[in-house]
Formats: sequence, C-alpha cells, structure tokens
Amino acid sequence: MRDEVIENLEEEGAPPLPAPPCTVVIFGAGGDLTKRLLVPALYNLRRMGLLPDRFRLIGVDHGERTVEDFRQGLRESVEHFAKTRGAEAGAFDADAWQKVENAVEFMRADFNDPAGYQRLGEHLDEVERTHGTAGNVVFYLAVASRFFAPIALALAAAGLMRQERDSGRWRRVIIEKPFGTDYASARQLNEQLLSVLNERQIYRIDHYLGKETVQNLLVLRFGNGIFEPLWNRQHIDHIQITVAETVGVERRGGYYDRAGALKDMVPNHLFQLLSLTAMEPPNDFSADAVRTEKVKVLDALRFADAKHPGECAVRGQYVGGAVQGQPYKPYREELDVAPGSMTETYVAMKLTIDNWRWHGMPFYLRTGKAMTKRLSEISIQFKHPPQVMFRDTAVDKMIANRLVIHVQPDEGVSIRFGAKVPGPTVKLGRVWMNFHYFDYFDAAPSTGYETLIYDCMMGDATLFQRADSVEAGWRIVEPLFDAWRTDPYRNFQNYPAGAAGPQIADDLLARDGRAWNRMAWHPGESKRS
Ligand SMILES: NC(=O)c1ccc[n+]([C@@H]2O[C@H](COP(=O)([O-])OP(=O)(O)OC[C@H]3O[C@@H](n4cnc5c(N)ncnc54)[C@H](OP(=O)(O)O)[C@@H]3O)[C@@H](O)[C@H]2O)c1
Repeated sequence: MRDEVIENLEEEGAPPLPAPPCTVVIFGAGGDLTKRLLVPALYNLRRMGLLPDRFRLIGVDHGERTVEDFRQGLRESVEHFAKTRGAEAGAFDADAWQKVENAVEFMRADFNDPAGYQRLGEHLDEVERTHGTAGNVVFYLAVASRFFAPIALALAAAGLMRQERDSGRWRRVIIEKPFGTDYASARQLNEQLLSVLNERQIYRIDHYLGKETVQNLLVLRFGNGIFEPLWNRQHIDHIQITVAETVGVERRGGYYDRAGALKDMVPNHLFQLLSLTAMEPPNDFSADAVRTEKVKVLDALRFADAKHPGECAVRGQYVGGAVQGQPYKPYREELDVAPGSMTETYVAMKLTIDNWRWHGMPFYLRTGKAMTKRLSEISIQFKHPPQVMFRDTAVDKMIANRLVIHVQPDEGVSIRFGAKVPGPTVKLGRVWMNFHYFDYFDAAPSTGYETLIYDCMMGDATLFQRADSVEAGWRIVEPLFDAWRTDPYRNFQNYPAGAAGPQIADDLLARDGRAWNRMAWHPGESKRS
C-alpha cells in the first residue's frame, strides 16, 4: 500500500545541490545549542550530501580544551543524537561523522577580546588557502543575546564581514533568539547590526521556521487549488494557533523568569505561524517576496479590542500537578525562579488582522508550559453550512469543517467533515481524514536546524526573519506589557501542571460562543486501526 502511494507521488525538480565551499565559525562552541543541535544538524547535512567537500568548522569559545577534546565531545553528542533522534534509532553513520570531524577545529578566545578576532581573521585566510573554502564564512552566534551586537561589531571592525563582488566571496551572520526583549531593544539591536552589515548578510533564526510542516504550509496553501478560494473571512469562522509544551522551564529558569511565555514565544514563533497562515500569495518564492507578504500581515495585526489590549489576553502560571501521570512541582519552585514570581508560563490572546481578507475574524493564540500535551498546531475552523436542507430531519446542528495543520510532534494535516451515520434516519457524524507525513515520506533525520543552516550557506533568507518583521512582532505585543505593568493581577490565573491552561483562557473563547480545540493528536483515528 505504502509503495503504491509512494509510486503515485509526483516528485518534481532536481535533487538539491551541496552548499558552496565555506567555513562555519560557531561562537559559543562549548555551549548546549552547539552540541545538541548545530553539530548534529551539520552531520545530518553531510549524510544528505548537502555539505560541501571543501568545508571547515571552527568552534570559538573561552573554555579551555584541545581540539581533540572538542572533537570527542561533539562525537559523543552526535552519537547520542543519532541514537535518540536519528532516522533509524541507533544508526550512527561513522563515515559521515568522520568527514565532519576531520573538518573541526577549535580556537580559544574571549568574545570581548579584539585580539581574538585578528587571530580568527588570519586563521580564516589560512583555511581559505589550505582547504579551498573560497573565503565564504557563516558566523553562527550561538551565544547569549548580550553578545550578539558586540560580536557582530567586532567582526566588522576586524574586516571579517567584507564581501567581494568579483570573486563572489560572502560573509553571513546567523543570530540566535531572543532578538531583543521588547520593541526598543530589538530596534536598537537592528540598528547596531545594520550599522556594520547589510540586511542580506543577517540571518535571524527562528527554528520554528525550519520545521517541515511550517514550510509545507506554503505548499498546502499555494500549491493546491482547493484551499485558497475558501481562505478568508467569508468562509472561515476563526483560526486557533496552539503551541503547548509538557516540559516546564528545565534549566532555563533564570532566563525564563525574566521573559515569560509572551516574550519567549509570541512575537517570534506564534506570529511566524500566524503570518504564514494569513499572508497573501507572494509573487514568487524569493526571500523578499515571501517576507514582504509576511510583514504586511504583522503590520495589520492587532488586539481584537485595540483600545483595551489587556482584555484581549489572559495568562497564568502553573502550580503543582501531574503531567502525563508524573507529579510536577510548581513553577515557583523551579531552579533559578524567584519564589514569589508573577511570570506567566501560559498566555492566550485574541487578535484580528485589519485587512480585506481577514477583517473582523478572530485569531486565537495560546502557548504554555507544563501542559497536558506537547502539541503545535494551526486549526482553521470553517463556518457552519446553512441548515436548510436538513430542516425536517433529526439533524439539529450542522458540523463545521475544520482543517488542522499539525506542526509537531507528529506532522500532518487533518480535515474534519460531516458524514451520514449508517441507519434508516439522517444523522450526521463527525469524521476526520488524516494525512501523516510518515505514511508518505521517509522523514529526513532532523534537528530542525538543517534547512536553516543549509539555506544560509545557499544565501536563501526566506525562512529567516527580516528586521522589519522582528520589530513588528514586538510592536504588536508592546501594549500588553503596558497593561500588565499597570495591573499585574488582571486576567492572571494559576493552572495545575498537566492542565490545558487556566479557566480564564476557556472563558476568553466562551464569551464569543467558541471553545479551544481539545488537545488531541489524531482526532479522527479510524476505529479499525
Ligand atoms: N540551548 C538551546 O536549546 C537553545 C535553543 C534555542 C535557542 N538558543 C539560543 O542559543 C544561544 C546559545 O545558547 P546555549 O544554550 O548554547 O548557551 P550556553 O550553553 O551558555 O553557551 C554559550 C557558550 O559561550 C561561552 N561563553 C560565554 N561567555 C563567553 C565569552 N565572553 N567568551 C567566549 N566564550 C564565552 C560559554 O562558556 P561558559 O559556559 O563557560 O559560560 C558557553 O560555552 C542563546 O542565544 C540561546 O537563547 C538555545
């Protein structure tokens, strides 16, 4: 059956090419991100044949270690990654890893020391000569956000960001999150970066955009004929976007307690999902065409009651409970969290997009930690069809169609529709049609960073955030910060760990006669399966 399905797939286009010769310099080489995600992603790219043969990886960090120690540490984390998250559990491709490992170097330097950048520059020249990397460099800033601007400025001051039109030599910087902590700081960071780099050299990462389903959203909407004619306020009742995690703050208590759910998730991940869902068709797939349409959505996005933003959002904090049967301690007892913290670990809000397509139609967003399920999804709730034909039957309520795009962990698309329940009378049953990626395609082993790193090497910034989109995200949520500062207890309610959020989040929708979707994976799993 699966073979038949695969045979019927219409695969088009040539396979992707390996990236051009280049060096990746990772600042923060001793950190968690490098070990857990970036180097496993480079290893996966090597396995997929997408890393160039002329490639070097230079780790920069102030930790004292030899290159042998560094390589050994990376090998262990890639082996661990391959066992737990590889395409086939336990399959570690030693050949592919060896090729990556042979390219790994380590340079000990402090990010604040200008001499380190001089040494790095000299070393990059040597690498270009000895390894044929053509002088192309991706500088990956896998560092705390306070270093983003200082490192970029120091790289530029040392002449390391200079590109060459004649040879085509390029220099690019990948910036991690969080990009600012509010509108003013994001703006200031953009100004600092843009004072020494041009926008095309800056790749602001949002790893959500590296997920297959997020990219497939564009294909679903614009690569099919049946969805787009219905994709507007005339046919859709509302849209819900959920990003729920079962984990609490883990080891990030210090950062999270200063940020909270709103800053951590909404202006970046949730707004990215929202803008891809709501954007107009771009003229083409080029980075600027796509990003221009996305930012137009954000420019028109506002709280449903713009005069009272504080009434359009609710928040809460988890107290003790049980997540999937395991006892869970209260947020205030997590490591590095203040005992009397009022930081929200859950936020939900109602927004609208003030443009022709969406005017007046609500978008409900929610995200939280220590919730009942790990789940990210976009749910398009269509309007009820008219009752007319069923007036004199047993059907007293029509079923509204729903399209759910599952982003993680089990990627796919489901459609809910009404079907006749077998029997002599006319009764409607709700049924689901489910498409799971894994039924059709072999999942590429993925950390979520492969596409993004590869795209940066290829010079494709489509999946990265442009300066204007980051600033727009912050600008939208800014009124909430003000409202919450003025009234810290307003619309704040605790929820037990393991719940679907606080009661006031349900009330937010109940006031509109609506309800959040049940957090379920396969809403329409066949009774026979
Ligand atoms: N970890 C994740 O899963 C994750 C996910 C998404 C985004 N991010 C983002 O990625 C970035 C990096 O996160 P991370 O968790 O990898 O951080 P991290 O574990 O703290 O790594 C940063 C590395 O930089 C080193 N370092 C600190 N100050 C330095 C200096 N002055 N000179 C040279 N080296 C210095 C640190 O060494 P010490 O340990 O000795 O300080 C550490 O090895 C952050 O912006 C984070 O928000 C992380």
